[in-house]
Amino acid sequence: MSRLIKILAIETSCDETSIAIAEFSGTKRVPRVRVLSHIILSQIPLHKKFGGVVPNLARREHEKNLAPILLQALKEAKLSVSSIKYQVLRSEKSKALNTKYLILNTILGREPELLKQFIKKILPLNPPPIDAIAVTYGPGLAPALWVGVNFARALSYLWNMPLIPVNHMAGHLYSALLQENPKFEARNPKQIQNSKSQIQNRFEFRISNFEFPAVALLVSGGHTELVLMNAHGKFKVIGETLDDAAGEAFDKVARILGLGYPGGPEISAVAEILSAINYKLQAKLPRPMIHTKDHNFSFSGLKTAVLYLTRDLGPKKTKLLRPFIAKEFQDSVVEVLVKKTIRAAKEYRVKTILLGGGVAANKHLRQELTKIVSSQSSNVKCRLSDVALAGDNALMIATAAYFMDKKIAWRKLQADANLRLD
Ligand code: KG4
Ligand code: ZN
Repeated sequence: MSRLIKILAIETSCDETSIAIAEFSGTKRVPRVRVLSHIILSQIPLHKKFGGVVPNLARREHEKNLAPILLQALKEAKLSVSSIKYQVLRSEKSKALNTKYLILNTILGREPELLKQFIKKILPLNPPPIDAIAVTYGPGLAPALWVGVNFARALSYLWNMPLIPVNHMAGHLYSALLQENPKFEARNPKQIQNSKSQIQNRFEFRISNFEFPAVALLVSGGHTELVLMNAHGKFKVIGETLDDAAGEAFDKVARILGLGYPGGPEISAVAEILSAINYKLQAKLPRPMIHTKDHNFSFSGLKTAVLYLTRDLGPKKTKLLRPFIAKEFQDSVVEVLVKKTIRAAKEYRVKTILLGGGVAANKHLRQELTKIVSSQSSNVKCRLSDVALAGDNALMIATAAYFMDKKIAWRKLQADANLRLD
């Protein structure tokens, strides 16, 4: 059955405030995804000086930016509703009597700045022609998640629209299935305005044709897991990190090496300098848990090994050998991730391997995974998240919402910082 559905998605689990409005059409199995608007406001420049994400600072930024981003997203999508319902009552007394106003006060009571903006800018709007509101409700930083969740609850209440809660990791998984439609892109070039606010304007994706069962390697700043997927929304975590996530290891090792935050792109950029040089670091770093029969990971020991190595070398030599250490570290992480993913794929006889999460932007990881999969088997297909959609974004949340489609009453939705996929 063909259907057309517009989803407005909100993502605030960490340090990106993102809103997407996406229109899904075609069949449920292979829909087309037209991005009507997609805004990702990165807080990285703010958190950089602290060397990592500061949860309360992230919360404050989400609170400040959600309403303006929503208005911008509606405008970009050409869904802004010009007619104004005069439901904002003028006198203070009648305001207090207005039930809508009172309920919004309860929903956004802990986000006073967002409440103020909501009453002023969003309450007067007519509901836009949207079918559902999707929001990330976990896992992530609790203070950051709650802002997005309460914003979505307020919109669902105000516009009387279904609310779809989405697991952030399911979003990363589904981002691997979003493939840009080259034909559409040629007609509608992507617009990236500036580094702070990334606006990907009206372009189209297709959902990759793929077969179940699939195994997804999800690698982000907070998580590293191997997820078996037998149907849409049916996930089983078959392996995960026992300590640090892969992205976290990149960030910590970058700090040890005196590189900036986030560490992943910094390390891979430094390591890449070496692709032309044939020098091997004498000290080989460990490949933690590469031979264990389970599907788990551990990256904390690897980080400690880098720390000890740099202590032995001393600051001068460390600086000199930085690219070599970065490359050896990256090789180690990638080797373990790829080997264990392939092993899981064989054990569960999967037909598709998916790669998602911030670390999925890593060039070496992408190359190694595709190379080894294609050299080993012709039946297994690899689907990698687009580099621009590997990090946190709301389009992946809209896509996961479309496939999983589990609605909840706005009164019942709560953020869950430790939410799991299974
Ligand atoms: O998925 P994500 O954007 O946020 C979380 O949900 O955590 O992932 C962020 C992580 C950071 O740790 C960052 O260092 C890492 O992804 N990352 C990378 C690369 N780009 C981002 N790691 C390795 N190589 C990259 N190119
Ligand atoms: Zn993420």
